[in-house]
Amino acid sequence: MHINDLPTPAVIVEREKLRINLEEMAQVAEQAQVKLRPHIKTHKSPFIAHWQKSLGAQGAAAATIDEAETMIYSGISDIFVAYPMGEIHRARRLARLSRLARLSVGVDSSIGVQMLAKAAASCKTTIDCLIEIDTGLHRSGLKDETQVLKLAETIHAMPSLRLKGLFTHAGHAHGQDAAGRETIGKQEGELIVEMGSILKARGFSIEEISTGSTPSAAVVAEVPGVTEIRPGTYVFYDASLAASGVVGWDRCALSVLATVVSHPVPNRYILDAGSKSLSKDQSQDIPGFGVIKGIESSFVSWVNEEHGVIEDASLDLAIGDKVEIIPNHACVVMNLFDEYYLVENDLVLGRIPVLARGHRHLT
Ligand SMILES: Cc1ncc(COP(=O)(O)O)c(C=O)c1O
Repeated sequence: MHINDLPTPAVIVEREKLRINLEEMAQVAEQAQVKLRPHIKTHKSPFIAHWQKSLGAQGAAAATIDEAETMIYSGISDIFVAYPMGEIHRARRLARLSRLARLSVGVDSSIGVQMLAKAAASCKTTIDCLIEIDTGLHRSGLKDETQVLKLAETIHAMPSLRLKGLFTHAGHAHGQDAAGRETIGKQEGELIVEMGSILKARGFSIEEISTGSTPSAAVVAEVPGVTEIRPGTYVFYDASLAASGVVGWDRCALSVLATVVSHPVPNRYILDAGSKSLSKDQSQDIPGFGVIKGIESSFVSWVNEEHGVIEDASLDLAIGDKVEIIPNHACVVMNLFDEYYLVENDLVLGRIPVLARGHRHLT
């Protein structure tokens, strides 16, 4: 089957670009001698997680329990849930999963720690914890040394928990130029390593310092004391990362294949990929909701749920033509589809399920 025979909208992933992206990040980790724990929220696909593992990745990082569970059931046996604890069903499911795999969990509050400790004790299991440190994103995570020490003591007092280390996510490295990524990456690494030293000086054993996103991974991996990097979006990259210069457009491995379904006036083309295919995520570095592959100056100007509108008179398209859109944010797009097509040149190699998409509420 050829790409043009596919029904649309569809997510397509170019195998060769994916391979280059996976191998390059594996090399970054290997050269810096840090572990690579890819964040699988980007692809949500055991097929890619196992590929990452075959290139040396240490298990995976996940945000949701569904992601963790899907990866564990597919045979990925070392998972770090890099998301704040604080919801009781999540704690219970994690405790049960920890009987099936090597599981570690992010924490940033004593309420969360207590929830997890209780759930772990009732499952007669011990769970590894990493305290989340805020190194500048100002999302979750603790910044204050006294609070971090207190939380470390709380974890230490729980027989069903073990303090494994610290983690951080400097997501503010996204949208920065090369100099900004360098500054933020260094700061991210140095701040968390420093916090680790403070805890070690107080007698805590800190074996893992886990950090690094796609734009900061190469910088932070070289900061002495960092033991692990957790980039996610690097598997596909996307229009936001290409527009801010993290990689060239030729490295964007994922696109949404769409069909021109209407062309009512010369400068307006309507695609069958709207916000339910491309999402509404925007980028500070480019306008619109996705860029036309191969004509990066053209973009989807606006979206409704099932309509993507291109306003560009210079294009020469007809109703029925197919176009590929590089989305602004690849991770959310993957979550919108049940499956993706792996392609090589124009040939469709396979239809692969996005097994960890969405939220399931199994208690
Ligand atoms: C906690 C955490 N770790 C790692 C990542 C991976 O970052 P990126 O997708 O920029 O590589 C994310 C992304 O959202 C995250 O939230």
